[in-house]
Amino acid sequence: MNSKPDVPWPQGLDPARIPAHVAIIMDGNGRWAKKRLLNRVRGHEKGADTVRTTVRTAREIGLSHLTLFAFSTENWQRPKGEVTALMALLKNFLLTERREMMENGIRLNILGQVHRLPDGVREAIARVTADTGHNRDMTLNLALSYGGRTELVDAARSIAEAVAAGQLDPSAVDEACMADRLYTRDMPDPDLLIRTSGEMRVSNFLLWQIAYAEIFVTETLWPDFNREEFLSILRDYQGRERRFGKVV
Ligand code: IPE
Ligand code: IPE
Ligand code: MG
Repeated sequence: MNSKPDVPWPQGLDPARIPAHVAIIMDGNGRWAKKRLLNRVRGHEKGADTVRTTVRTAREIGLSHLTLFAFSTENWQRPKGEVTALMALLKNFLLTERREMMENGIRLNILGQVHRLPDGVREAIARVTADTGHNRDMTLNLALSYGGRTELVDAARSIAEAVAAGQLDPSAVDEACMADRLYTRDMPDPDLLIRTSGEMRVSNFLLWQIAYAEIFVTETLWPDFNREEFLSILRDYQGRERRFGKVV
């Protein structure tokens, strides 16, 4: 089960009300670079450092699931040079972080169309997911070539196939049946969705799973996002009243 690391508890956080799952749309790398008259790729490199610190903070507070949106199905339409640089960065990140994931009991899981990723990235994913597969303290989901609508279409197709094959009765199709066919099968839905760099949109991320997520949008650009801000957003989350449509 989820064991909390042996470190002092961050001030002001209620250990009894840590969300089970936090999802983050890591946005603003390009703007961070542009402000400094740098190539966008420099922003992505700096963004990778933020991923490292964010994973550490998540582990420190005993989060059981952290999902990071790293590359969307729509991001394939970016300039080839940027896509190639992002893929190289990703591969390097996976291979260099493997050891820390092992030391900290973190299991890597990918949400998305793994088959569309370049060979080198797929090999790194295969290695790190296999090595970390038995870790139980935290699941790190990286959403790669991920699109929420594609995920739902795939689930609908899988249900249709099961019905056509006579394995599933249409009257048995329910929410659990859909949830079972998503990349996040067996995981809790995100309690909190964070988006950096100020855009007020979900950009095709976890459309089904965020049905009742609390949303927090910060103006901070992803490369500037840090532990203090993450903790402060978690404190804000803990102060909210979640009603789930009921009267409380
Ligand atoms: C997020 O930063 C990283 C990816 C989408 C891969 P962006 O690259 O979208 O940065 P902005 O939005 O252009 O500033
Ligand atoms: C969402 O950011 C995707 C990721 C963070 C990986 P985008 O920058 O691609 O989203 P839009 O284009 O602003 O909606
Ligand atoms: Mg963006």
